[in-house]
Amino acid sequence: MASNSAKQSGDASIESSEAQIAVHWGEETKVAPPATFIAQANLADPTARDRFSLERFPECFKEYADLLSWDQYWHTTLDTSKAPFWKWFVGGRLNVSYNCVDRHLAKYRNKAALIWVPEPEDEPAQVITYQELYQRVNEMAALLRDFAHLKTGDRVTIHMPMVPELPVTMLACARLGVIHSVVFGGFSGEACGIRIADSGSRVLITMDGYYRNGKLIDHKKNADIAVATAEKEGQKVDTVLIWRRHPGRKVTDAALIPGRDHFVDEVLRPFRGQRVAPVSMPAEAPLFLMYTSGTTGRPKGCQHSTGGYLAYVTGTSKYYQDIHPEDVYWCFADIGWITGHSYIVYGPLALAATSVMYEGVPTFPDVGRPWRIAERLHVNIFHTSPTTIRMLRKAGPEEPLKYDLHFKHMTTVGEPIEPEVWRWYHQVVGRGKAVIVDTWWQTENGGFLCSTIPALDPMKPGSAGPPVLGIHPVIYDETGAQVPAGSGKAGNICIRNPWPGIFQTIWGDPDRFVSTYYRKYNRNPQSTDWRDWPYFAGDGAMQAADGYFRILGRIDDVINVAGHRLGTKELESACLTVPEVAEAAVVPVQDEVKGRLPEVYISLKPGVAASPEVAEHVARAIETQIGKIARPKSVRIVPDMPKTRSGKIMRRVLAAISNSMDVGDVTTLANPDVVEQIRTMVQGAKPAPAQPVPDDIRRFGQVE
Ligand code: WT7
Repeated sequence: MASNSAKQSGDASIESSEAQIAVHWGEETKVAPPATFIAQANLADPTARDRFSLERFPECFKEYADLLSWDQYWHTTLDTSKAPFWKWFVGGRLNVSYNCVDRHLAKYRNKAALIWVPEPEDEPAQVITYQELYQRVNEMAALLRDFAHLKTGDRVTIHMPMVPELPVTMLACARLGVIHSVVFGGFSGEACGIRIADSGSRVLITMDGYYRNGKLIDHKKNADIAVATAEKEGQKVDTVLIWRRHPGRKVTDAALIPGRDHFVDEVLRPFRGQRVAPVSMPAEAPLFLMYTSGTTGRPKGCQHSTGGYLAYVTGTSKYYQDIHPEDVYWCFADIGWITGHSYIVYGPLALAATSVMYEGVPTFPDVGRPWRIAERLHVNIFHTSPTTIRMLRKAGPEEPLKYDLHFKHMTTVGEPIEPEVWRWYHQVVGRGKAVIVDTWWQTENGGFLCSTIPALDPMKPGSAGPPVLGIHPVIYDETGAQVPAGSGKAGNICIRNPWPGIFQTIWGDPDRFVSTYYRKYNRNPQSTDWRDWPYFAGDGAMQAADGYFRILGRIDDVINVAGHRLGTKELESACLTVPEVAEAAVVPVQDEVKGRLPEVYISLKPGVAASPEVAEHVARAIETQIGKIARPKSVRIVPDMPKTRSGKIMRRVLAAISNSMDVGDVTTLANPDVVEQIRTMVQGAKPAPAQPVPDDIRRFGQVE
């Protein structure tokens, strides 16, 4: 959506938006890391960047691979012969569960691997040592192999909440070379079913229930919906394994389907004490799938590798999370997202860390809960999202001061963090004594792409910082010309080189993999030289003169709600399942806590009257088909959608109205009058004064 000032300059939307952002989010003063942190850091050697320079690529990543135990060392660091399907550490063999569990036993058998904090505050925490984790992973692996008949290369869908049985199940899969696909527990049964079908899983692993905001939620019923949905999509699920939140107690009303459904605690009995040798996997074998949203309705199964992925998350956990085995590390994210895979489970456990998991919501029973957990367990590394920080700050700005907190290091991930919120995190939560790393990356990336090195780089509130070791970004404009480095001008951020954590493909859709991430700036489709294949991240970004990157948000029609990606097309197709709805368009609106929320516009079929009931049905349809996190801020019933003469819905016009932006020139639309009607509906008779708006909203609906 080009504003007036923008129209006068050349590459309009980009330049003006940068100027606008600068108005309400200026360059910030840098803050130095504290000396106490530097003294103990894993990485305090300023020559590290030379070791990972582009001249040393790809061999530099040997440093990360050498953090792992290999059954067989690799012969080729990077094979580019099937570009852009990169192969890392070719010829190498290893097992992920061995690397995360078995190899720590000699030294750390009796040390906590996981500390699980249930949501009910009177239920004691569970401390799982490496020895105990080893036992549980082996028993579960035996059950998966000998009871569920899973073999290396099979896919399994896991739809579980934040309980220790989740990492146990993942590691058991990894032990066998079974590819897991963990679906966020808060996703609906339908959403899970679509992912079961796409991945071709015949086994679903779930849980009967879990606590959320003080309530014991019945989760088993989602499994029944998931299996039915998968079946409709042509995928039969023959086995459903159900962990129990309170074995022996009735938690779910849903009946067990004989022959299909099994309580894990019951079928696990014969496997007690069993051992399963870890299967030695090729470095290039897939470890897991993680589904994420894109511009089309179908979620993408990002396929991550065994050796490259584990090397990358281990290296970045060591240098950027700065985890030592003696730390108490709490990544307050959900394992159902990539953050949890990389930085609760695989990276920390590969380093023999103690990783804390919490079952519930941050504000249960009150806003002091996270700080009580941190105080009680003496957490010294804390990792969470700007959304959670905003929520905790809003509900209890003084609350952290009531507790004895000892953070030396804190991370944020998932969205840009407002400098004001950053300062609260730094001063009130971190007491000015902790370093903060703002880590930019994506589901597809495996691990961090931009972040300060905690002991070496000063922090700049609101900026992710320099690229991490071995990552070489570049910003291109729409024409493919490079935006000068350090110019402060916005454009599309790309990574020039492959790295070990990058996903291997989209499960079952290699063409979409190439076209979404590589086609835009590819110089020659036949080339096997990685230099011709920059990775297109789909984010707008700018690089300041000091080399720090600031991420401006998605440039496609993806809405980042509370740090989670929602595809507008997925939301729209959910709306269209309501029989009264003729057309639907979903746009992002700004929200004080969640960053962005979806706002829904619908038009109704002829003869159907607008009513609050229809609007509520639409909101409910989104909740049941995707999940509660996708619930729209509002559902607006409009007489017609603004459309081009060719009949395309102009989402950018709706986004402009929802965000009190200038709608720009709409005279060429097929139905320009409807724009003013909708504007009045949303803003009232008098147009709302134009607000400065962030880049992702300004660009929304413009890229096709
Ligand atoms: C999108 C990826 C990977 C962890 C969680 C999200 C946005 C991520 C930052 C950050 C500004 C960020 C980007 C990115 N994003 N981290 N530190 N600063 N924006 O994973 O669901 O794959 O979403 O989140 O827009 O493309 P995801």
